[in-house]
Amino acid sequence: MTINVKEISALDRASVLHPFTQLKDFASGKAGDPTIVETGKGIRIKDATGREYIDGFAGLYCVNIGYGRTEVAEAISRQAYRLAYYHSYAAHTTDELATLSARLVKMAPGKMSKIFYGMSGSDANETQAKLVWYYNNLRGKPNKKKIISRQRGYHGCSVVSGSMTGMSFYHDHMDLPLPGIIHTGVPHHYWGAEPGETERDFSARRARELDELIQREGPDTVGAFIGEPVLGTGGITPPPEGYWAAIQEVLKKHDVLLIADEVITGFGRLGSMFGSHHYGIEPDLITIAKGLTSAYFPLSGAIVGERVYSVIEEAADRVGSFSHGFTYSGHPIGAAAANAVLDIVEKEDLPGKAREVGGHFQQCLKAAFAQLPIVGEVRGVGMLGAVEFVADREKKTRFDAGLKVGARISKAARDRGLIARAMPHGDILGFAPPLITTKGEVDEIVGIAEAAVRQVMDELAREGAV
Ligand SMILES: Cc1ncc(COP(=O)(O)O)c(C=O)c1O
Repeated sequence: MTINVKEISALDRASVLHPFTQLKDFASGKAGDPTIVETGKGIRIKDATGREYIDGFAGLYCVNIGYGRTEVAEAISRQAYRLAYYHSYAAHTTDELATLSARLVKMAPGKMSKIFYGMSGSDANETQAKLVWYYNNLRGKPNKKKIISRQRGYHGCSVVSGSMTGMSFYHDHMDLPLPGIIHTGVPHHYWGAEPGETERDFSARRARELDELIQREGPDTVGAFIGEPVLGTGGITPPPEGYWAAIQEVLKKHDVLLIADEVITGFGRLGSMFGSHHYGIEPDLITIAKGLTSAYFPLSGAIVGERVYSVIEEAADRVGSFSHGFTYSGHPIGAAAANAVLDIVEKEDLPGKAREVGGHFQQCLKAAFAQLPIVGEVRGVGMLGAVEFVADREKKTRFDAGLKVGARISKAARDRGLIARAMPHGDILGFAPPLITTKGEVDEIVGIAEAAVRQVMDELAREGAV
């Protein structure tokens, strides 16, 4: 199919409200035409002008199995021909849904019991909040409702999940966060530690601060803590040593549920099936999306652990049926897509691959960037990585935001055919390549990124900014 780029661009400009786009510049054409993405194969996508890009971010950290996997397309098509839709209300199910659920309960960390399905990470986290409130109402603790998340945590952008998200630009002008959702400190040693403070001491301090926050709010008012095993959109920041153990101790002490938001880290990205396995996290509730279907179909889940589920089931005679559900909860095409994706994840051992290729990726990032004068920190785990740029390495000072260093580097990489994402809250270049990426492709990604960084470093030197 030949796409008429001018025509599609005009239709798009006139009618699509794009997320995270400067709407006025886009509408006026000042920001250029939209990128019309047409095809994808492996780790590459192609736009309608024929330009090819390596997708070093797997879409939005989601196309873990890579593009163009016909096994999944066929599973989707088979299910669409057989039964395109039926709901899962009032105990209706499909073979794909039941099989998928049994599989997920088995794969997931900790003692999990059931899965509630949605369509996005955001709606799954809305569900998690309702589960926390429901659970505490049913066990006679109606005041235990507040939810604590972290500054720079990302949990979505709907009303409750957007409140959990700890980034102010998701709240500004949108009347968020809601009351009852509060934020505690970022576990980022590079920026947060006192001079000389070890990672372990810093983790202990963050845990102490959480303890103090819970005491201040009143332990009988705090229902849950939500966190990503590795902060994702908040800068791709692995936790400092000892962080999760210290945090879990505080949560246990105050009878506060732990929600592990595994939307990015689930299904292999860190080199373990779940981020919770990687860091010894024992969650009560787990949020999954993205990698569950590798984004071949919108599907998310709130995995409910025994501790919460047993209370809910116990109360059923008293309160009646579970009154929460979406038209598309447990969509059969989504379930078929997820089963086909999980077949690939298991058969090709993508967690193992992410561990092996991820080790190489982390080494390459360090080798290429750690010594550059504008690099403050190179960090990551498995197939997640980030490089943070600073104006002065010794004094740890950031670049003037007006220089837009992160965005310029990301654009320079894109001009060279690599998609790597400028992350918020600093000048950060983030990477999350598909889990099928080979070591050779990692070398290609890092090589292009290095050329882009050196180009912008030279520009900054010419401008007198470094
Ligand atoms: C950790 C985490 N949770 C939740 C979400 C929200 O998912 P969605 O964009 O599908 O609503 C995201 C999206 O990036 C995420 O990274």
